[in-house]
Amino acid sequence: MDLKEYIASIEGFPKEGIIFRDVTGLLANADAFRYACDQLADFARRLQADVIVAPESRGFLFGAPVACQLGIGFVPVRKPGKLPRKTISCSYDLEYGSNVLEMHVDSILPGQRVVIIDDLLATGGTVEASVKMIRELKGEPVGCAFIIELEDLHGREVLSDLEVLSLLTYE
Ligand code: PRP
Ligand code: ADE
Repeated sequence: MDLKEYIASIEGFPKEGIIFRDVTGLLANADAFRYACDQLADFARRLQADVIVAPESRGFLFGAPVACQLGIGFVPVRKPGKLPRKTISCSYDLEYGSNVLEMHVDSILPGQRVVIIDDLLATGGTVEASVKMIRELKGEPVGCAFIIELEDLHGREVLSDLEVLSLLTYE
């Protein structure tokens, strides 16, 4: 299946100079959504993930169904002030800004093998921040998987010690 058919490219969103790669068309097509989740799940299964971690908000759209499909837990990485219990945090840079992410301190057990899932890899800042927090919690990040990789932003280079899967690439 050619998943690129389901991705819209919007020039100048959310800022001038950015081409936004929009996964909502893929989500709206049941066959494409199922196919994408199956690919991500195969990757996480091969890496023997104990838990799936995904960043707010678009990461949730793929991470949660994959965890459910594999019969393993799902852990959200959230923007500040959203998680109700004790958290750890990490700041990161985006293609179009910067932000802080948080995880609950008890969300990963020591030694758990973690696969991170998100819709898109740009600079890698989001996943790098997630990796740092998972390591701080003594989990073992083993891989990360994306629907889309923006190759020109070289996000893969900051994830060099992890296995990386992207289903689609754009320059
Ligand atoms: C987008 C995207 C990834 C991240 C990728 O999320 O969903 O999480 O940016 O960029 P990076 O590789 O440079 O870190 P965004 O922060 O825009 O939030 P959203 O999912 O809530 O739209
Ligand atoms: N997140 C960071 N860069 C993005 C882009 N170009 N399209 C969609 N999501 C993004």
